[in-house]
Amino acid sequence: MNRQILVTGGTGTIGRHVVPLLRAAGHPVRVLSRRGGRSGDGVTHVTADLLGGADLGPALRGVSTVLHLAGGAKGDDRATAHLARAAHRAGVAHLVHISVTGADRVPLAWIRSKLDAERAVTDSGVPWTVLRAAQVHDLVLTMLTATARLPVVPVPGGLRLQPVDAAEVAARLAELTLGAPAGLVPDLAGPDTHGIGELLTGYLTATGKRRARLPVRIPGRAGRAYRDGANLARPGAARGVRTWADFLAERAPSRPVT
Ligand SMILES: NC(=O)c1ccc[n+]([C@@H]2O[C@H](COP(=O)([O-])OP(=O)(O)OC[C@H]3O[C@@H](n4cnc5c(N)ncnc54)[C@H](OP(=O)(O)O)[C@@H]3O)[C@@H](O)[C@H]2O)c1
Repeated sequence: MNRQILVTGGTGTIGRHVVPLLRAAGHPVRVLSRRGGRSGDGVTHVTADLLGGADLGPALRGVSTVLHLAGGAKGDDRATAHLARAAHRAGVAHLVHISVTGADRVPLAWIRSKLDAERAVTDSGVPWTVLRAAQVHDLVLTMLTATARLPVVPVPGGLRLQPVDAAEVAARLAELTLGAPAGLVPDLAGPDTHGIGELLTGYLTATGKRRARLPVRIPGRAGRAYRDGANLARPGAARGVRTWADFLAERAPSRPVT
């Protein structure tokens, strides 16, 4: 049976991949974001700011499943709590939420806010599914591009990442959204675990840049947690297939040496 699905953040890096999959499964999709997009072909865009306390009644009307992807640098706990309360009031049958690997283990404010966002979902009274995913390739590329603008690139010792393909995260989210509420499901990470220096080497090689490196130590409890791998996927995680090298070969713009 076709059911109305609301995807918050459906215009974002991951959302852009999920929406077509849900449409391909035959379901009408409503996408919520602040800036909106062009509606058509079974996809309707609505605008609301989840952090602005917007009335979500109209966006949730007739919705049976919510896939909550909207997020930003700050306030995901508040935004998610606002959405979860509204979803409960609207009688939503399934709330699917993406979180980040290590959400319960890394003592940093933004990660704590991801854990509080998870709690808003699990305590909402709406049947739920939460997937913790590792950083997607696109995000790692954005981070490295930004740091490589510096003449000397800081390289935090002991920091490892497991970059995963956004399309693979999207495929898993689509599967979870179309399935029954499943609780906290196994994490999803990329196929390999890389030190940040290794990721940087791949990026510099692919873009033909040369940069000096400055080894740095992340201070305090957060630094210790990262060096202990607290940000990595839990044992039993699902692993994607597409590697960082495959992604870079396709996406990193090749440039002359700079
Ligand atoms: N990217 C990763 O590596 C990664 C890994 C694990 C988990 N996650 C989580 O997955 C989610 C999606 O990540 P992403 O990389 O796809 O993010 P993204 O590219 O930054 O997209 C964010 C989406 O959320 C919308 N949005 C942001 N703030 C909003 C607000 N206050 N109200 C309504 N809509 C809002 C944005 O549209 P507007 O700007 O138009 O509002 C956009 O559609 C986030 O919660 C993120 O923490 C991401």
